Formats: sequence, C-alpha cells, structure tokens
Amino acid sequence: MENITLNLQGSFIEENELKEIKPEIMAAQEMLLDRKGASSEMTGWLDCMYRMDKKELEDIKRAGRYIQENSQAFILLGIGGSYLGAKAAIEAVRGDFHNELCSPRVYYAGQNLSGPYLKKLIQLVKEKEICIIVISKSGTTLETALAFRVFRDLMEEKYKEESKNRIFVVTDKEKGALKTMSDLKGYKTFVVPDDIGGRYSVITPVGLLPMAAAGLDIDKFMEGLRSAAEEYGSRNFETNPCLLYAGARNILNRRNKEIEILVNYEPSCISIAEWWKQLYGESEGKEGKGIFPASLNFTTDLHSMGQFVQEGREILFETTLRIENCEDDLEVPFDSNDFDKLNYIAGKSFSYINSKAFEGTFLAHKEGNVPGLIITIPKMDEFYLAKLFYFFMMSCGISGYTIKVDPFTQPGVEAYKKNMFRLLGKKERI
Ligand code: PA5
Repeated sequence: MENITLNLQGSFIEENELKEIKPEIMAAQEMLLDRKGASSEMTGWLDCMYRMDKKELEDIKRAGRYIQENSQAFILLGIGGSYLGAKAAIEAVRGDFHNELCSPRVYYAGQNLSGPYLKKLIQLVKEKEICIIVISKSGTTLETALAFRVFRDLMEEKYKEESKNRIFVVTDKEKGALKTMSDLKGYKTFVVPDDIGGRYSVITPVGLLPMAAAGLDIDKFMEGLRSAAEEYGSRNFETNPCLLYAGARNILNRRNKEIEILVNYEPSCISIAEWWKQLYGESEGKEGKGIFPASLNFTTDLHSMGQFVQEGREILFETTLRIENCEDDLEVPFDSNDFDKLNYIAGKSFSYINSKAFEGTFLAHKEGNVPGLIITIPKMDEFYLAKLFYFFMMSCGISGYTIKVDPFTQPGVEAYKKNMFRLLGKKERI
C-alpha cells in the first residue's frame, strides 16, 4: 500500500529550521493526541472511526441504498462543515460531470440565501423523483433551515405522507429545532457526535450519509480512516507527514508568507480545496493570527492568477495536491497534416502532459521565490480520500496549537449573524 507523501524540496526550508521548530510541533501534537489542549472535548474525530457502531454504519448504508433506488436526484441541505466535505468527496470520487454520468444526481442547497438559486433548483428537480438530506448540527442555521422549509413544502405537496420516508436528517442527538421537528414528523435521523465540530465532521454521518447516497464505498472510506489514524498518530517528526506539514507551514509563515495556496491540477478536486479552506481558515484565523488559505486550479488559473504568483508580492507559498495515478486518461491523437504543430506530443497521455505542466510551473514559481510543498496522493478513491481528509485535520489541529489558538472554536462567525438577525427583526426568546 502506497502512502500519501509530502515533499519539501522546493520549500526553501533548511534542515536546521525543521530541527528548530520540532519541539513546538511535538508539544502541539502531544496536546492534541493526549487531549490536553484547548477545547480537547472537541477532538472526538481523532478516534471516532474506532468507536463507530456497526449498526449505525449499516443504517447509513441502508439509507444510502434507499436514496439511490428511489430518487433521480437528492438534494443535500447544509452549509460550511455540514456540506463541504461531502461535496468534496462526491466530486473527487465520482469525477467530472458526475451528475450527467451517474445516478442519482446530487444538488446542494441551504448553503446560501439566494432566491434565484433556490427557485432555479426547484424548477430543475420538481418533476424528478427526489430525496432530501438535511444536515445541521445546531439544527438552527438560517440558510439551511430556510431551504428546508421550502423543500419540505415541495416534498409534502409532491409525496404527501410518503414524504417523511424521503427526508433524512443529520443533527444533534437531542437539541435543536431540526431534531424536534424530525421526531414529530418521523424522519430518519443520524447523529452528529457531540465531540466533533462542523469542519471536522466529514468522517461522521455528516459526510458518510451523502457519500453512501451518491454510491461511494463507505467501508473503504472507513478503512482509509483507520489507516490514517494509525499512520498520522505517529510521534516521529521526521517520518510523520502531518507533523512536517504543520512545521513547514509555520516556518514559512514566520518568514511573512501569509497566504497558502492549495493548488490542484484536476477539476474534480476543486471542492477539496473549498473544504480545506474552511478547515484552516476557521481553525487558525483568530486573535490576529493564522495563514490565509486560498486555492487555485491549474492549469486554468495559470492563465489568470499565475501572473501574481510568479511576480506579485512575495507573501505566498504554494501547496500542490498531486494525484499520482489518474484512471481515466486519453492520448493526444496523431494528425497527418499537423496544422496545429502538435504531433511532437502525439501519443502522449494527457496525464503525462499535465505532469509536465506541473513540473514546469513548480520550477517557474520556485525561480519566482514562491516556496512550494507537494502533497502526493497515490490515487483518488475513497480510501485515499479519507486519509487525505484526516491528514489535513490532524495537521490543522497541530498547527493551531502551535500558533496558540484554539483550533476547535469559531467565535468570529457569530458577528455577522447577530447583525443579520437584528436587521431582520428576530425577537430574542425570553
Ligand atoms: O465548522 C463549523 O462549525 C461551521 O462551518 C458549521 O458547520 C456551519 O456553520 C453549519 O452549522 P450547522 O451544522 O450547525 O448548521
């Protein structure tokens, strides 16, 4: 079995810098693994894969099969940590154009407050056989709750009594309006564990149920999680890539590299970067600290943002996510006329050409003084994706403790809500 690897050769990081930061990283890892750090009660994700009840997993698979057999489309309602991980997994594993090529189609709502978006989505799905998955840990998030109100009406009108069999809920085990409503209406519910926050919840029913409904192999995903917990729980700085990644990011940040760009060369991985941005942004961005997480999709963005990366302000470092083996590939055809002068690469695969684009870009950015880290994943399937999620989560927890913030809270996201609710005239409960 191959491992996910981290390559620091283009990072401009010296051996002695790694040695210097090692004690801090090791102390942060100890806080995390031994549950001695801030909000340690929210670190259930570290080992939840060993505690997951077999029956719960079977229930998730059964619900997933029901959705697959009874719907042409399912709509996942959720925002932030309640949908980004599942979206990333479904797109990465099912691949490009999955909605046109696979069944059921997957749509997302409750992740914005756009009327036009919701109206068009309803037009799109109303004549199809549909199921709904609503995910909200708090059960009170406005975006998700509003979209659910709209879709509940649609489902009740379309399916009457049967609608309750087509609505699946993932929420707190006892608190929140969503839980109360689910009990009253008789929806099948799954639990978001108390000790796991939104952005770390892709490895719970929050991610597993939509993945199962989209036909992903969640046994393989769980296997990947167990393998990750074992490998990335190692306390060996030199060989554990989670520790090295946390160390490298912080070394670069101390050199005023304030932005980390996660780069991919496969469009099916765009949402992995969206999930990653939430994970790092919400975990580290507090008390005036943190690296700003950004993402670029190459080679597309080389024709736009590539200019800034190459020659703009030297505040960036680049982390490239590479997939070693892409299954679906094709070769450049030979053309006897060669009008486009491309015969010099006829017979070469697109993966090969893409890999040369990566090598050329990496070198160019290095020459432009942009430190580069490379994370290589052997192939994109449920097993390795689970490992990648866990790799990033583990490293994020360590990195957060290293900069002395609490990586498991998000007090800053309340500020906009307070203002919005006041402006909307929401009455506080007495
Ligand atoms: O990471 C987080 O905690 C957030 O992104 C939440 O997941 C997001 O705000 C949605 O919250 P909830 O699941 O309670 O609706």
